[in-house]
Amino acid sequence: MRIAVGSDHAGFPLKQVLAAYLAELGHLVDDMGTDTEDPVDYPAYGAAVGEAVASGRADLGLCVCGTGIGIGIAANKVRGVRAAVVHDVTTARLAREHNEANVLCLGGRVVGAEVAREAVTTFLAAEHAGGRHHRRVEEIASIESGGPVHALGASAPASGRARA
Ligand code: RB5
Repeated sequence: MRIAVGSDHAGFPLKQVLAAYLAELGHLVDDMGTDTEDPVDYPAYGAAVGEAVASGRADLGLCVCGTGIGIGIAANKVRGVRAAVVHDVTTARLAREHNEANVLCLGGRVVGAEVAREAVTTFLAAEHAGGRHHRRVEEIASIESGGPVHALGASAPASGRARA
């Protein structure tokens, strides 16, 4: 697979570890930076990874900042991106199976390299479970394009239910 990777300074060391790991696994790594531990702002790097994925130039993305949160929020601003912050193999697996995440986000200051490698392996191996999970992903896409959330039913939030 072609995988776009990006980080800020806080995520740089872990990004380097994971980029090398992805290459070892045989993936094509498209590194969007940053390239040092000099302080930079994470939004541009999250957006660059998100745009690579949304445009189809990359199959999946990997973002790393201090927590994974800021860079993930930035990546999620790109239409079509579903960036998920994960902390372990379980959240990495469920991010694919339930949320069809296409960008994996990790926190270089909160997750160790071994856990991060296992999370990446798991994320790449997991498959979207489809069914009701696919419907929910489509609902997210509908929100993103300004459309309605079409499946409001018994499980909808109270404020969204029709009242008799
Ligand atoms: C940088 O200090 C830090 O705020 C950033 O890497 C990230 O954790 C933000 O979400």
